[in-house]
Amino acid sequence: MELVVRNASTVVTCDGPLGPRADETLAPIGRGAVGVRGGRVAFLGPEAELPASAIGPDTVVLDAAGGFVGPGLVDCHTHVVFAGDRSDEFDQRCQGRSYLEIAAAGGGIAKTVSATREASVEQLVALARPRLERLLRQGVTTVEIKSGYGLTDEAERRMLDAIAALARQGPQTIVSTFLGLHAVPKEHADRREAWVDACLSLLGALAAEGRCDFVDAFVEQTAFTHDEARRLADRARAVGRPLRLHVDQLTANGGAQLAAALGAVTADHLEQISPDGIAALAAAGTIAVLAPTSTLFARARPFAPGRALRDAGVPVALCTNCNPGSSNSENVSLAMGLACLENGLTPAEAFLGFTRVGALALRRPELGRLAVGGPADLVVFGCAHPRTLPYHLGMNEAVRVVKGGRLVA
Ligand code: NIG
Repeated sequence: MELVVRNASTVVTCDGPLGPRADETLAPIGRGAVGVRGGRVAFLGPEAELPASAIGPDTVVLDAAGGFVGPGLVDCHTHVVFAGDRSDEFDQRCQGRSYLEIAAAGGGIAKTVSATREASVEQLVALARPRLERLLRQGVTTVEIKSGYGLTDEAERRMLDAIAALARQGPQTIVSTFLGLHAVPKEHADRREAWVDACLSLLGALAAEGRCDFVDAFVEQTAFTHDEARRLADRARAVGRPLRLHVDQLTANGGAQLAAALGAVTADHLEQISPDGIAALAAAGTIAVLAPTSTLFARARPFAPGRALRDAGVPVALCTNCNPGSSNSENVSLAMGLACLENGLTPAEAFLGFTRVGALALRRPELGRLAVGGPADLVVFGCAHPRTLPYHLGMNEAVRVVKGGRLVA
């Protein structure tokens, strides 16, 4: 085999049945080992059963030294392609101004749009690269990245070009999302419908060119309405692009019910979701994507009701939502820790949110789990149990990262 991981306390496969028992979904193999051939998992089982022939003269052998091995992590909602800085807004929020007040005064997304429009594809790639590397060093081998800071036809394409360039560079798997309906661009303030129309036709072109995997919209008082999201959903269906929606983040507006009714794959944020919204997501099978670092960073309390969502049978994924305004953080451990301390998840559920369920949110069910024949995306952690990831709050426990069978960090 080309690579073998041995001497692990446990291999946490995340390949058990999905359901209420997170411990069953983790499906750990005590004293497990992993063998890789052709970039895929070729052996998964107790180390005692690893055939002697698995290790030859050219095999890379990773000694987990008593740590646990898990699947490569999945960050299913980010905005890591952007230019500029909004530390001034952070300062203002610390002095009591709200995220919405800052946005209404011309800051917020609009400020990042101005900076991003000035940047070339090469500059956007260079700015995003260290953010992806920080994620990689924590074990994140799959990252979703949204457009939405260009907000002209040309600047949105430039963002998607940067995302495509990052995907070509690797090593992470990159999933791209067209988020033209992120904010109404200032030149369309008096004719917002024209921007919605432009996004619908741009989406058609992007889908035909194979340049976005998903389409998304921010449904909020300061952004887009239910009717506008419905128009986008119709277009997305017509051009074969699955829908995701930012909903119920800052104000309660029935966004979760909308996401469920439109057949969205995910409903993201959900701080303000109602009991009816939770029931609607459960009935529709929509995945909830929680972004606890942005609840903290935007001071947008309460935290989303992760416990109630899970208890209602809604699959819950987690993300860093790395972006310059509401979550200037690539810290996976912090996101998992807040998910436990504030959203009410257990550590096992938080780990699944960044593995198996995160991959389902991206419609990549082969990722975020370890199974024979599946992709050899895996992480060797320096601790013996996944619960240490949120417990060692804000710290990185990943020591080795393997993507497609290749050691990348
Ligand atoms: O996911 N909610 C909208 N979009 C981002 C925030 C973007 C920004 O403030 O720049 C989010 O939180």
